[in-house]
Amino acid sequence: MKIAPSILSADFANLAHDVKLVENAGADYLHVDVMDGHFVPNITFGPSVVAALRPVTKLTLDCHLMIEHPENYIKDFAQAGADLLTIHVESTPHYYRAIQMTKEAGLKAGVVVNPGTPLELIKNVFPLVDQVLVMTVNPGFGGQKFLPDMLAKVKRLDQLRQTNDKYHFDIEVDGGINAETIKTCAAAGADVFVAGSYIYEAADPAARLQTLKNNVAI
Ligand code: DX5
Ligand code: ZN
Repeated sequence: MKIAPSILSADFANLAHDVKLVENAGADYLHVDVMDGHFVPNITFGPSVVAALRPVTKLTLDCHLMIEHPENYIKDFAQAGADLLTIHVESTPHYYRAIQMTKEAGLKAGVVVNPGTPLELIKNVFPLVDQVLVMTVNPGFGGQKFLPDMLAKVKRLDQLRQTNDKYHFDIEVDGGINAETIKTCAAAGADVFVAGSYIYEAADPAARLQTLKNNVAI
């Protein structure tokens, strides 16, 4: 079970401080939401911010690419020090290639599906990927309401990996994760839990992180 705080809800003027805060509080990954204003209707940051964060933290940099043509930026993210790149199947007709390129660059690779996208569309990359990310909100913004219908996808993925020797992926959920929804996601089979607003918009982010950890502890 891994908790991945999303810096989308952090204080961008004090990013290093906010990263250290969750690292010291026991975060497993740091979730970095890269948005280009085209694939999603919001703009955040790119490889230069990943490069700036790299010397500040030992956490796995879990980069969620919400950008068109992600295959054009894989080298840049690899050089910046990213550990894991997650590619939206909807973002490029060449997502298989983008995932291959990510692995060839020596990084871990993930595939991600929007709420409206069926798992059928990504089955060809199941043997390739280290992580499958199920969006539990529409991508683009923090602070949205969890979509419970997405739990069926998590359950199905968990069944598939248990019955296929060639699949070795973690299941990550992203969007609307809080003290309650994290329990239902864990029960459905998720392993990696992204949380942005629940952690960073609290007076005591470390306490919120601990609550999430407690609520998925077996
Ligand atoms: C949304 C992003 C999420 C976002 C989640 O497009 O992919 O990672 O930070 O935010 P919360 O946890 O507030 O729903
Ligand atoms: Zn994300």
